[in-house]
Amino acid sequence: MTNNNWYPNSWKKFTALQQPNWPDQAALEEATKRMGVYPPLVFAGEVRSLKAHLAQVAKGEAFLLQGGDCAESFNDFSADAIRDKLKVLLQMSIILTQGLSKPVVKVGRIAGQFAKPRSSDTETQDGVSLPSFRGESVNAPYFSEEARQPDPTRLERAYFQSASTLNLLRALTSGGYADLNQVHEWNQDFVKKSPQGKRYSELADKLSEALRFMQVVGINAVNTPAIHEIEYFTSHEALILEYESALTRRDSLTGDFYDCSAHMLWIGERTRQVDGAHVEFLSGVKNPIGVKIGPTATVSDLLSLCDRLNPDNEPGRLTFISRFGHEKIQESFPALLRGVAREGREIIWSCDPMHGNTYSSPSGLKTRSIDHILAEINHFFLIHRSEGTLPGGIHFELTGTNVTECVGGSQEVFEDDLKDRYETTCDPRLNAAQSLDIAFLVAETMQNGKR
Ligand code: PEP
Ligand code: CO
Repeated sequence: MTNNNWYPNSWKKFTALQQPNWPDQAALEEATKRMGVYPPLVFAGEVRSLKAHLAQVAKGEAFLLQGGDCAESFNDFSADAIRDKLKVLLQMSIILTQGLSKPVVKVGRIAGQFAKPRSSDTETQDGVSLPSFRGESVNAPYFSEEARQPDPTRLERAYFQSASTLNLLRALTSGGYADLNQVHEWNQDFVKKSPQGKRYSELADKLSEALRFMQVVGINAVNTPAIHEIEYFTSHEALILEYESALTRRDSLTGDFYDCSAHMLWIGERTRQVDGAHVEFLSGVKNPIGVKIGPTATVSDLLSLCDRLNPDNEPGRLTFISRFGHEKIQESFPALLRGVAREGREIIWSCDPMHGNTYSSPSGLKTRSIDHILAEINHFFLIHRSEGTLPGGIHFELTGTNVTECVGGSQEVFEDDLKDRYETTCDPRLNAAQSLDIAFLVAETMQNGKR
């Protein structure tokens, strides 16, 4: 079913929330015009491949793992940072594949995750109010009049940084770095000594042993590409619609439109209005789409989103990413799950245990507790079990380094430690060790559920 009134800029006829107040419209138009002819970052065939994998997730034959920065940064941009984020996702995926006995579909919040919705348009410090930081593709994080001025050339800088990030990711995932024979290499020094790092090493030993056996019987990286390379996909919140529509291309093979800024795009909790511009824009591109779902959503909202975004009820097209918070999930989630399942809607439910669990520590730094994150994940799986529905995936904000932004975990970060290595430009992320902790827990929870 196609909506004949749709075109890449039809969203402009609808209300778009959370857009920057661009001071110079002519400069914005020039930037988007230039971007309109830049090469696509991803190719429609890859997007179709992700959708096919997600269709398997919808059937319960695979599991979705999505994770990366809350907001990518222009300053923290280096080969090491990209590689370390890939490492932690690879490690989590090994833990989950082993624990779930299912393939894991790996989707990074990377190579385009530059724009942030904000709860307030302005930020006040010492009596001075300035526009809020809206992500590096819009303005700079520093608190000064000049830094906070939205600048459309930042959209282009975000595009070029995404292209270069994706270039390295493609090289690493197909050039041998993600080869299963490298499982030990992904365990970083600062993680190795931790309990979860040791546990990962034991798992990696078993895997290496299995690979050696397979090698002996003739199954190796040369005749079995799945050992040597992986499929890795990119995603971000499709927030700044000028950026997304400028990178939308018509696929020459099918004639369909694809948003070629990433393989998967999602709509945030604050911009998921059924009659809003974000839903309009994403209704017309064929990429897999996510929608963040918080405690204020109703069954009727969800069914309307299904009608608008997935009118053909295609498996793999639509993922609802729940983010209720550990205190609200039990109250909010079951009725929504039931309402959607009753209507036979093809939905992947993925759990984002981060965004409903943010609080301010006594020092004023925004943080999240591993205990709350684990509690929300646990409820997510238990509720699916009691409703007879499928938990399809998990969605995290994480990074590959040893940051101290979330509290808890077996390597114990306390509220007093947060200031030590608090490096995020937006929300607090799990560090590599905390990420492994959580992957082991999810694997165990899923295994217990099967018994
Ligand atoms: C995010 O994923 O960074 C985000 C802002 O999430 P939400 O829309 O769920 O608040
Ligand atoms: Co965030």
